[in-house]
Amino acid sequence: MHFIINGQNHALDLDSRTSLLDLVRDHLLLTGTKKGCNQGACGACTVLVDGERINSCLALAVQYQDRTITTIEGLVSANALHPLQQAFIEHDGFQCGYCTPGQICSAIGMMAEMEHGVPSAITADLAGETVQLTHDELRERMSGNLCRCGAHNGIIQAIQDSFAE
Ligand code: FES
Repeated sequence: MHFIINGQNHALDLDSRTSLLDLVRDHLLLTGTKKGCNQGACGACTVLVDGERINSCLALAVQYQDRTITTIEGLVSANALHPLQQAFIEHDGFQCGYCTPGQICSAIGMMAEMEHGVPSAITADLAGETVQLTHDELRERMSGNLCRCGAHNGIIQAIQDSFAE
């Protein structure tokens, strides 16, 4: 099977039942992506496929051959953190950090889901009207990613700060 992960090509002989999560963690040792519930409930395993966020624990790797897959490791460029990674640090958007890679990938995917690409602010064009998403609306859009430490306020503030420029 052939995969494109974080811009690198990988040819692997895999069992067809291998999940995308096990592919990145166990076969490629990209352990930034976490295994939490392993049943689609916590979001710790979130990665980006062609820019869309998915729970990699529920995805069979074989179905994602030749797609553009990005894990948390792929967000760093030229040894600089992604702006959202930096914002998580500045806003204490984590405590134990286990959910953080999934939170960050999910937030990036969330912004991509909005129409007109990544907006210049936390806005969505709804029925032709540009509105600013509230803290609660962002919480709702991020509800697939759990944080057992309760760092949600910092997480949302980091997202707002990162994308508000
Ligand atoms: Fe995939 Fe929890 S480990 S959603």
